[in-house]
Amino acid sequence: ALVSMRELLDHAAEHGYGIPAFNVNNLEQVQAVMAAADETGAPVILQASAGARKYAGEAFIKHLIQAAIEAYPHIPLVMHQDHGQNPDVCRGAIDLGFSSVMMDGSLEADGKTIASYDYNVDVTRKVVDMAHKLGVTVEGELGCLGSLETMKGDKEDGHGTDATMTREQLLTDPEQAADFVKRTQLDALAIAIGTSHGAYKFTRKPTGDILAIDRIKEIHRRIPNTHLVMHGSSSVPQELLAIIRQYGGAMKETYGVPVEEIQHAIKFGVRKINIDTDIRLAMTGAVRKFLAENPEKFDAREWLKPAREAAKAICKQRYIEFGCEGQA
Ligand code: G3H
Ligand code: 13P
Ligand code: NA
Ligand code: ZN
Repeated sequence: ALVSMRELLDHAAEHGYGIPAFNVNNLEQVQAVMAAADETGAPVILQASAGARKYAGEAFIKHLIQAAIEAYPHIPLVMHQDHGQNPDVCRGAIDLGFSSVMMDGSLEADGKTIASYDYNVDVTRKVVDMAHKLGVTVEGELGCLGSLETMKGDKEDGHGTDATMTREQLLTDPEQAADFVKRTQLDALAIAIGTSHGAYKFTRKPTGDILAIDRIKEIHRRIPNTHLVMHGSSSVPQELLAIIRQYGGAMKETYGVPVEEIQHAIKFGVRKINIDTDIRLAMTGAVRKFLAENPEKFDAREWLKPAREAAKAICKQRYIEFGCEGQA
């Protein structure tokens, strides 16, 4: 059944676990997440970016998620807008039936310019006013995602900024977070702690200087009742990179957010953990392998099946690692 994000995250906080929020764009990804949740007894957050809505089309994204609810009526499910760039995107998602929206006011509506604090407060507050009347949960973001190795912002597929930033801009300030929550009344807060979107997060296995898990503790101490969200939380497993490379893919050396660091973060109040890249890597590796080993095959179902299986496997793993087993 469709539930609000608030309901799921409140339960997660009460019972001390975190929920992976998986980005979905197509049928097989939706099926993979649902099968993984069903097999582990986990609650589900399916999130669609603006890019996902554009790729699938509004009607398809809406009905793919409706189909998930119909096929798995016993699983509590949140349908979430990922990185809404302005109130109109959030409004559009609510009109489509989403039960949760992210208003990402860390950047201006162009998706590139670093926003002022006042802009972020105003735009987030506006979405909260609109969404809460309709029982829809709101996630906001304070601080700019980006790398503490290069001191550059996180630019992905035409959104985000690669501007050089200060350590202050790249780490959410606990005092400002408290003020932000008070002024916006949002439900969940995405924080910046040195993670970034995509496969290329760190040039080495991250340590405390480039992945600021301790900062989460300070933020949580200041706003213990706000659910914290980690973006850019794919772990970029070396095994998945190896499969892609083995079957002709070109992936440079790179490291993601280690699962054990996410497990620490969950202890410090992180309740929603955004994952897209790991699913991309899993599916790409599986398709490359299948087609390399079966050059005579051309039925799309035959190569989509191992891709869906690989996506399901990584989702199951994260549900178990984050403590979701049996929580639905
Ligand atoms: O925000 C980043 C998510 O991984 C979604 O990516 O905008 O390419 O769909 P996307
Ligand atoms: P990854 O690129 O690390 O999977 O992060 C996804 C994300 O934060 C979506 O909002
Ligand atoms: Na951002
Ligand atoms: Zn994100």
